[in-house]
Parts: sequence; C-alpha cells; structure tokens
Amino acid sequence: MQLKGRHLIDPDGITLEELNKILSLGLQMNSNPKKYSEICKGKILGTLFYEPSTRTRLSFESSMLRMGGNVLGFSDANTSSVKKGESVADTIRVLDDYADILVMRHPSEGTPALASNYSTVPIINGGDGWHQHPTQTLTDLITIKKFKGEIENLKIAICGDLLFGRTVHSLLKTLSRFPNMEFILISPPELKIPKVLKDEVINKYNVKITETTSLEECMAEIDILYMTRIQKERFLKEEDYIRLKDSYILNTSTLDNAKEDLLILHPLPRVNEIHTDVDNDPRAKYFEQAKLGVYVRMALIVLLLGVIE
Ligand code: NCD
Repeated sequence: MQLKGRHLIDPDGITLEELNKILSLGLQMNSNPKKYSEICKGKILGTLFYEPSTRTRLSFESSMLRMGGNVLGFSDANTSSVKKGESVADTIRVLDDYADILVMRHPSEGTPALASNYSTVPIINGGDGWHQHPTQTLTDLITIKKFKGEIENLKIAICGDLLFGRTVHSLLKTLSRFPNMEFILISPPELKIPKVLKDEVINKYNVKITETTSLEECMAEIDILYMTRIQKERFLKEEDYIRLKDSYILNTSTLDNAKEDLLILHPLPRVNEIHTDVDNDPRAKYFEQAKLGVYVRMALIVLLLGVIE
C-alpha cells in the first residue's frame, strides 16, 4: 500500500516495510540533501502546536523549507481562534484548505486521531499528551540504523519516566516489531511503563522485557541506552515531581563498564538526567539524533504527499 494521502497518528499505523522505506529514504536524504532541495516546491506544511515544542515543530519546518516548500501555523494556541472557543474539528476543516499536510501536537490524548476524521490532507501526530509520538520514534530509529547498521539483535535500556513519556510508548511498540530485540525498562516504581502497553508488546511480539530500578546494573550488557526526562507537566502534584525528578543522572562514571559501541540516545529536552560531561563521550549521540530528525521527517513528508512513491 502507498503512504500517499495517509495520516500518521500511531506508529502501528504503518507496516514494518513502510517504516523501513521511510528510514532508507531519510538516510539517502541525509547523505545527499541537495538532490531534494526543490522537491516540495509549491507545497505547504501546516503546524498546529497546542503544546510547547522546540525540536518537533522546528525540525518539521526545517524539513519542509529544506525541500523548497513553505510552512504556516501556530506554536501557541493562545494566539489562534482556539482562544475564542473554536473546536479542533472546525480548525481542521479550514486549515486543510490552507496546507497540503498538517502536523498537530496536543496535550489531550487522541486529539490528532480525532482531527484526522475531519482532514482531507495527511495529519501527522506530533505528540498527544502522554500517549504517542510517532515521529520521535522515526528519529530514534533512523539514528539506530545509522549507527548500528541494522535494527535487530539489540539490547536496549529505556530509562526515566516510562509512565508519562510518550516517546517511550511509541519506541517500545515500534522496536518490538524488529527481530530479536530485548528491553530493560528502568524507572522508579511510580513511573513504570503502563501495564497494558507492556502486556500488548509481550503478547503480540513475544519480546523479552525486564523491569528494574537500577541504571548501573545493566550498563555492561546493553547496546543502546535511551534516557528520558521526568515529565513535569503531567504530574498532578508538584511534590511528586520534586521527589522523582532526579531519580537518574547519567554521568561519566556510570559509563565505566559500558560497551565501547554503546549508543546513548535522548529525545531531548534534557533536564538533569544526563550530565553535560557525557556530551563529550563519542557514544553520546543525542544531538546527532535531533539532526537526523529533520531528514526522517523530510522522508515522511514526501511519502505522505506522494511526491515520491
Ligand atoms: C519529547 C516530547 O515532546 O514528548 N520531545 C521531543 O519531541 N523531542 C520528549 C520530552 O518532552 O521529554
């Protein structure tokens, strides 16, 4: 099936074959960006951001601009008619005439899915509440593919806020579909991965998952370490956030026993969970990861627009 005209709301909405196609095209675009610099001439990307964002919105904008297209949108719902009480459905009914493809970030889980019912152009979920963040997963996967070659036979530790972290939810669901992946999920007991999600991937893909509270213990055996921030904005009580916010801090000594070719990833923004000293370690690839996010989003945009089939 073609990706042209489709929405991307949940990572399960695309097959493994389609995922690999997006990643391969993203890597081609990364190695030869000039070739694609005019490919979206005359096309418009609309960005509807109802929740703060730096990388997701600006990498989408950069992707479209690097392909000769244009962008419009809002990064603060308070400056749009939402403030006057306009519904998401009405906003979409109008904006799908103003743009050829839309990216939406929203604090309420399920809103991009709802929006896709009203849109005649592709809608991409740029993160909905604590639910899913499929294009961050594409960013994570293109980075793994670039630095590990293939996405298979890898042991990955995911550390931090596994309860509220939408990047974690999308990543776990997606990586579970690749051959022979093993997961170590590290979090405080209060911020464990939702049981329903854990059960889903175990039942569907038969993956091995170990849950632990210790970051140090698994260090020698893992191929990838995916750090995440504690999601302050999702806590009901500030005191809980304050108690948990510094649960894990990766520093250079934590990495003493780690593999030489460990890949350290983070969706960013980082707060305290990775000490800045780690940035100089060649295994720290989170800034490269953010860069690759532009190319994988370029690939996604052209495939959903049908500019490349
Ligand atoms: C993430 C998000 O918005 O979920 N940021 C991003 O898109 N790179 C991660 C986070 O906010 O912690």
